Amino acid sequence: MSNAASPEVYSPGLEGVIAGETAISTVTGGLRYRGYPIGELVDHCTFEEVAYLLLHGELPNETQYQEFDHRLRAARALPDVVTQTLGKLPKQANQMDVIRTAISMLAHFDPDTGDQTHDANIRKAERLVAQIPLAVAHFYRHAIGQPIVPSRSDLSLSANFLHMVRGTPPSAEEERAFDISLILYAEHEFNASTFTARVICSTMSDLHSSIVGAVGALKGPLHGGANEKVMDVLRAIGSVDNVASWLKDAFARKERVMGFGHRVYKTGDVRAAIVKKFMAAFAAKTGTQKWEEMAEKIEAIIAQEKNLFPNLDWPSARLYHALKLDVALYTPIFVMSRVTGWSAHVIEQLDNNRLIRPRARYTGPEVRAVKPRAQR
Ligand SMILES: CC(C)(COP(=O)(O)OP(=O)(O)OC[C@H]1O[C@@H](n2cnc3c(N)ncnc32)[C@H](O)[C@@H]1OP(=O)(O)O)[C@@H](O)C(=O)NCCC(=O)NCCS
Repeated sequence: MSNAASPEVYSPGLEGVIAGETAISTVTGGLRYRGYPIGELVDHCTFEEVAYLLLHGELPNETQYQEFDHRLRAARALPDVVTQTLGKLPKQANQMDVIRTAISMLAHFDPDTGDQTHDANIRKAERLVAQIPLAVAHFYRHAIGQPIVPSRSDLSLSANFLHMVRGTPPSAEEERAFDISLILYAEHEFNASTFTARVICSTMSDLHSSIVGAVGALKGPLHGGANEKVMDVLRAIGSVDNVASWLKDAFARKERVMGFGHRVYKTGDVRAAIVKKFMAAFAAKTGTQKWEEMAEKIEAIIAQEKNLFPNLDWPSARLYHALKLDVALYTPIFVMSRVTGWSAHVIEQLDNNRLIRPRARYTGPEVRAVKPRAQR
């Protein structure tokens, strides 16, 4: 049955639909978190400051910053059951599946699990910001068969994560590079995973359940999973000389090139431009210019042939590669950052909740009678 004449509003994939209100960020007129242009946040803030901004609504003053940072560092611990379970999971398990399991387990041990108030949700969110990097690093070391590196409370969130994953603390420049990527991944309005989190909590479900659902939505290659696929593309192409012929074949096969295109940004993603600019200097120091040269040529051809532009995942994969991070970590890193935005949205939704329950346009059979089984 076609309902073409139906008067209801319908947009496949909800494209262009305003599905709610938010004061957390906007992509209209350039990405801004709570009013601050993303480029200024990158230039002037640490990831911890941006996390505070998203969760608490304002940039912290010095005292607020110190107290927040102290709370995050103090929360850097995983219950024994969680670390023991992570150590028993198959080493080849998908690391997004593992982090989904870890967050689910953490809910059982959070002292505020049953408390749905605004303040309790802030406390739970802060703890998740502190705990998720530990869980990611812990399972990663288990997966590569290396000893677990204990967390260090004297390091920033970024430096501690790199230390736990790689076994040695990063240089100040590596720490900054990683921090920039966390700032850029932290929040992005009503993307698929954030919307998932809001739908879940709109039923009056809890923060951990919302974040677990969001992780599931982020995993897919059309969303967060793209940053891992980008490295597959670059490796498959292999050299600058190979770019044109590889893309020609990919276009002929009607393949999507991961890291390009965006539902909202049709003329380019400001976040991608920020990382690309940063990589120009950083790659020279890390000896990864080859990938920058390849990326430049790929970008030019895809712009010309398809009028498509890089999204944040495109340069981020190169940044993580330059930091010598394994590809399996790329999307879990996105989780470490986006948990701030997801939590802010859950808190905002619950502060003024209305159940999210849209309608579907029915395309099934006309009404019909059930025949007895013998007559079907
Ligand atoms: C992000 C994405 C899902 C947005 O998609 P969308 O708004 O639904 O746009 P559509 O999927 O309708 O694509 C529009 C057209 O551009 C093409 N296109 C979009 N992204 C493309 C890509 N990365 N490579 C090649 N072609 C692409 C589509 O095939 C489609 O072409 P058609 O009209 O000839 O069929 C899409 O661009 C994509 O799949 N990108 C790759 C995955 C990725 O990088 N995701 C991270 C997003 S931040």
